[in-house]
Amino acid sequence: MGDEGKETGYHIHSHDVVIVGGGLTGLRAAIETVDHGLDTAIISKVHPLRSHSVSAQGGINAALGNAVPGDSWEDHAFDTIKGSDYLADQDAVEIMCKNAPATIIELEHFGTVFSRLPDGRIAQRPFGGGMFPRTCYAADRTGHNILHTLYEQLVGREKNEKGKGGRLTFYDEFFVSSLVKVGDDSFEKGAGKAKRCAGCTAINIADSSLHGFTCYSLLLATGGFGRLFARSTNSLINTGDGASLALRAGVPLKDMEFVQFHPTTLYDTNILVTEGARGEGGYLLNSRNERFMEKYAPKSMELAPRDIVARATQQEIDEGRGFEGGYVLLDLRHLKKEKIAERLPGIRLISMDFAGVDPVESPIPVQPGQHYSMGGVVAGNDLATELPGLYAAGECSCVSVHGANRLGGNSLLETVVFGKLAGQEIEKNFPSSGSWDKKGVEKAVLERLSAEDSRIKALLAKKSGVKMHSLRDELKKTMFEYFGVFREGSKMEKGLKKLLELKATYPEVHINNKSPLFNHALIYTLELEGLFDIAEAVARGAIARQESRGSHSRVDYPERDDERFLYHTIYRLKDGKPVLESLSVRLGKFPIKERVY
Ligand code: FUM
Repeated sequence: MGDEGKETGYHIHSHDVVIVGGGLTGLRAAIETVDHGLDTAIISKVHPLRSHSVSAQGGINAALGNAVPGDSWEDHAFDTIKGSDYLADQDAVEIMCKNAPATIIELEHFGTVFSRLPDGRIAQRPFGGGMFPRTCYAADRTGHNILHTLYEQLVGREKNEKGKGGRLTFYDEFFVSSLVKVGDDSFEKGAGKAKRCAGCTAINIADSSLHGFTCYSLLLATGGFGRLFARSTNSLINTGDGASLALRAGVPLKDMEFVQFHPTTLYDTNILVTEGARGEGGYLLNSRNERFMEKYAPKSMELAPRDIVARATQQEIDEGRGFEGGYVLLDLRHLKKEKIAERLPGIRLISMDFAGVDPVESPIPVQPGQHYSMGGVVAGNDLATELPGLYAAGECSCVSVHGANRLGGNSLLETVVFGKLAGQEIEKNFPSSGSWDKKGVEKAVLERLSAEDSRIKALLAKKSGVKMHSLRDELKKTMFEYFGVFREGSKMEKGLKKLLELKATYPEVHINNKSPLFNHALIYTLELEGLFDIAEAVARGAIARQESRGSHSRVDYPERDDERFLYHTIYRLKDGKPVLESLSVRLGKFPIKERVY
């Protein structure tokens, strides 16, 4: 575990590369860095096999053309760009879609057990926004399958001796609390040595000990921020840690107002009910037994992009055509038991266990819930952020492949394509001498550790004040109510005011649990501070964007407005104050059109 910190009481670990996040992005990046000889650490808030990637159900897109011939990366790219409501950067989409078929084959060779066609080739099912069988799947446990594959690959590399491959160390159940920068403050004013990210501080959740990490490159691969919302398909761990770490280190976020709501989450618990269920032929019914998607997307029906299906579902509920409590029905009965058991076994179990409904016999009650964060840390096609040494990939980043609305099946694809590219870029930019100023970095890490130590001690010392759980629940309710599927200017202004009032009470937050052992209340409290940063970014971006585009649907500005708003929102903190800027969308060979489905 590195230097046991005899003099300072802190533990210091030195690696070439630190990857924060043990999901698909982090693991895929690590395969690259380790195979290229770099000493790599993976720091994960949970055991990597409990990362949120494990719960991805329906599949991963690639233009293999197996189920129906004639697909191409261009068609995949076009569907993605149209699905994004033309806010995706077209060169980034091209990278993702061109790399997709080789990525699937590589995963298969690594050991992923994809579902098969009768002739043995990888099976594909249609998903929303493409309506073409382009989504490769492993029944309805695709993320689970891929995550286990990549983890197995890395466990096989864990014992690498230097010279053969790089060393690999997992730090499971460590919470990263801050990034460490070295360099000169005056650089930003045009002088001095450029700042760079050179490590981080972390808490070992098992015993609350503080650890410092030094590295040459740090990759944020921490996933999304779904748990900012009261109803979400996301794991409890998805609290936007990477985005808030970056923001506080002076790195901007992009397109934070674009939050995806999945149309079919299980009523009340909001567990995901995969789009694959509709891809296999399931359909949505309102309380009048109508297939209501006929009204909203007559051509694509239930396979319109999910922003459209989520809005349609919410509208049916809001206008009184849902069921009491606020849900509609997803009917799979016509698929019959054999197909449900083969293609959707997880959905059947989830429905039975959590809603008491066997979809073979009865429709599943579903309602929209937060599912994905299109926005995140600004990263280029090379996954580099504005801060040298800091990279971001996967859902915590915004490389702009999803624009204003992500297509189902493109999330898993993004993680593995850009995880691999991030690993390659980190390796390419690593000093050829293999060394850098580790002493200087260690000093900066120790300074940060001492500041983190004081912050945590002050928090634990509070004997009374605002209860952490109540504050967190209030924040989540506020975000869902004021920044949900449908948005409106004056309502959002009220929502922002409310969330700033809640934020102002954070310094009073207190927890009863003072134990150093597995103190999850402490970790939730630290996460909550970051969630407030993210909430403000979402709220300010949403208020400023006076149009409707993709997942951002404003009842007071119902049309897309390319004249005024065909740009990315950039959100940063300057002297601690939020600032909104804009950045052009990189257009390309696919002209902007009306988005009809
Ligand atoms: O519905 C789903 O299976 C989700 C897929 C995705 O978000 O890509």
